[in-house]
Amino acid sequence: MRKHIVAGNWKMNTTVAEGVELAKAVAAKAAEVPAEVKLIIAPPFTHLYPVAEAIKGTAIGLSAQNCADHTKGAYTGEVAVDMIAGVGCEYVILGHSERREYYGETSAKLVEKVKLALEKGLSPIFCIGEKLEEREAGRHFEVVTEQVKDVLFTLTAEEMSKVIVAYEPVWAIGTGKTATAEQAQEIHAEIRKVLAEKFGALAEEISILYGGSCKPSNAKELFACPDIDGGLIGGAALKAEDFIGIAVSF
Ligand code: 13P
Repeated sequence: MRKHIVAGNWKMNTTVAEGVELAKAVAAKAAEVPAEVKLIIAPPFTHLYPVAEAIKGTAIGLSAQNCADHTKGAYTGEVAVDMIAGVGCEYVILGHSERREYYGETSAKLVEKVKLALEKGLSPIFCIGEKLEEREAGRHFEVVTEQVKDVLFTLTAEEMSKVIVAYEPVWAIGTGKTATAEQAQEIHAEIRKVLAEKFGALAEEISILYGGSCKPSNAKELFACPDIDGGLIGGAALKAEDFIGIAVSF
């Protein structure tokens, strides 16, 4: 059975103190979540160390929201994979649409980052998704197929087995507009089909998460879809009650 995963991307929110408090609140409620659901939280870089301390001894996984495309050296302002691994991260979100859109992250750069993360033993949470105009033009399958092929098709099967995929339609992020369960299922199935072209039966083992205005009220319907293996949660991950409310929806 594929792993069920609910991951919280805190984006650029909370002070360190608020973040530690949020992590503790999530940890306090984690027992409500079925054991087969993996919880992951992705606070900002500055919070990783104290949050790692706050969740020590729990099954909650820690993720960074990005990492550098180099291992070390003269890259002012960047944070290397070794650094995030060193504070206890096991995951790193890569290719989020906000990074692609606002910080010019290309597939070529993402290949570097994904490979570095894997080399250092981290699991990338690799994000893909189409923009509104691309969906309206009926190009959503084409766009996500290209995003998958450009980056994930450069991996070996062993590397791919460590990757978590997150489908996040850009038009649904932070907008309150969720993809319908049918829209999400249809494209998740397509993503799995594309992965199978290169990786065969392994595609059945890869967790594909849905992200974009996911909340306790719509998570059940989304998670009931056969190819949706969990969620990458933005806004609703900033409240422990909502985050856990989503995770109990399996
Ligand atoms: P929202 O849940 O706020 O729409 O954000 C989704 C997201 O971008 C998670 O990475």
